[in-house]
Amino acid sequence: MAAGRPVVIVTRKLPEAIETRMRELFDTHLSAKDEPMGQAELIEAVQKADVLVPTVTDRIDSKVLVRAGPRLKLIANFGTGVDNIDVKTALERGITVTNTPGVLTEDTADMTMALILAVPRRLVEGAEELKAEHFSGWSPSWMLGHRIWGKRLGIVGMGRIGQAVAKRAKAFGLQIHYHNRKPVHPQVERELEATYWESLDQMLARMDIVSINCPHTPATYHLLSARRLKLLKSSAYIVNTARGEVIDENALARLLETGGLSGAGLDVFEHEPSVNPKLLKLKNVLLLPHMGSATIEGRIDMGEKVIINIKTFVDGHKPPDRVIPAML
Ligand code: 8YV
Repeated sequence: MAAGRPVVIVTRKLPEAIETRMRELFDTHLSAKDEPMGQAELIEAVQKADVLVPTVTDRIDSKVLVRAGPRLKLIANFGTGVDNIDVKTALERGITVTNTPGVLTEDTADMTMALILAVPRRLVEGAEELKAEHFSGWSPSWMLGHRIWGKRLGIVGMGRIGQAVAKRAKAFGLQIHYHNRKPVHPQVERELEATYWESLDQMLARMDIVSINCPHTPATYHLLSARRLKLLKSSAYIVNTARGEVIDENALARLLETGGLSGAGLDVFEHEPSVNPKLLKLKNVLLLPHMGSATIEGRIDMGEKVIINIKTFVDGHKPPDRVIPAML
């Protein structure tokens, strides 16, 4: 990397304290309009920058990366998921990629738990009924949902966030089941009283609630395919705070429409920011605008991670949150 202050281009507006610190440390170019960058803007950025700081809304694909200038040496993603970046091409071109793991875990797990509670208990539906002035007094048969306690939760992806969801869910009396590439440490399994399913198909068929907590990689694209979604009990619920691409959204919408599934809580969508119009019409879904990690504290922690990654890199060390091929 060229001597002096590296040129750091940030694609979106970040918390003020983070932007101030970045300006003190680097030749930082901030986003004035805070809108996702299009391909032309991204190409311009990768030609000028030593370091690019993108977010989930910037598609850094091979078309962008082949146009990168020789000075681009680091992509310090503001986010944990790196499916917005063609990491393989970046690494092949000698560009290091970092992310912000760990600091979003608790917030995302909280939001997952909120959806696990809110959908079967019809929280938003109830609130909307009240606002619409449809509440004429308590009734023994009105707004009945389904009990959470004692039900089986199947977690797909038992990494940091999956385990944090399991901890919360256990406290709510759910029985923890999970599918992962490999079982978690026996000590963790014991603490969570969790049951490992090597076969995702077999697990899905037996769960009351399924939570998606795995990253989006080529291996997990449509992991919840039309065929697998049909394995779920019609009384089951599905919650997704990971990535929309992990579920075949069209197949999910069809199932929800036709009563093949009881309900869904979705914070992420296959073609974000577009949402399948079928989902928008359904009553048994709770849709959120990708806000799983949206806390002020979380965003500041993410920004601090980005700064540490850039600083260690420009100081000639290996940044702590390097994305390596085994993670893809
Ligand atoms: C982030 C996320 O806020 O970090 C992730 O993987 O999904 C989000 O919660 C977003 O990616 C920011 O780039």
